[in-house]
Amino acid sequence: MKLDVYFTPPGPTAGDLAGRGVVVIDVLRATTTIITALANGARAVVPTASSEEAVRMTANLERDGFVLAGERRYLPIPGFPLGNSPNEMTPEQVGAKTVYLATTNGTPALVAAQGADPVLVGAAVNFGALAERAGAVLRERGDLAIICAGRERQFALEDAYVAGRLVKMVKKGLRRLALNDGAVVSLELTQRYKNFLDAFTASEAGRALESLQLGDDIRFSAKMDRYALVPAYEDRRIT
Ligand code: MLT
Repeated sequence: MKLDVYFTPPGPTAGDLAGRGVVVIDVLRATTTIITALANGARAVVPTASSEEAVRMTANLERDGFVLAGERRYLPIPGFPLGNSPNEMTPEQVGAKTVYLATTNGTPALVAAQGADPVLVGAAVNFGALAERAGAVLRERGDLAIICAGRERQFALEDAYVAGRLVKMVKKGLRRLALNDGAVVSLELTQRYKNFLDAFTASEAGRALESLQLGDDIRFSAKMDRYALVPAYEDRRIT
């Protein structure tokens, strides 16, 4: 059995991911936001590689069936009613709607993982359910890849820490499991920080959010097991 962690969306092209089970993590904040939107009644979330793509995809849709959401390097996108904060994904804003979401790193990483099966959306807010589902995929397939969205194609501590916590959970009881170097290092990180909040606060993304008065989003994202759902990305939609 094989368990790989990639700290940025991997060189593996869609072809290399084909047929592999994948977990995508962008815990501050895209994947946390997606899970929260679905938990609060969104019909689906469609991740897009850019805001232009989100606008294009919704051009001919009924206005009351969808909502545009996202950010560009933490800045609001003109004409998008919602940003990328899990706290904005309230039942009033997203209930029964399809959310078209464009973010800097998270949604492009999801789009790049198309072709894998399943593509699971992971964060701390759904950690327990995620670990169970990811463990089942690993046992069935003999193979799982955890993809961190990272920041601007660089290592991101908060995503790597969540990956390490997930590796630790899913490897329990498995004797013949090959870990790549990313998985080994992610496990080391779990020794270094006390909990999700400790790791997120220490990260560059955490510090950036704090300086933008978005510290509430860090604390929201660090609260483990708010939701028991593990969204999957299939046919361009996350449900
Ligand atoms: C991203 O996709 O880059 C992140 O979700 C950034 C953010 O927290 O807005």
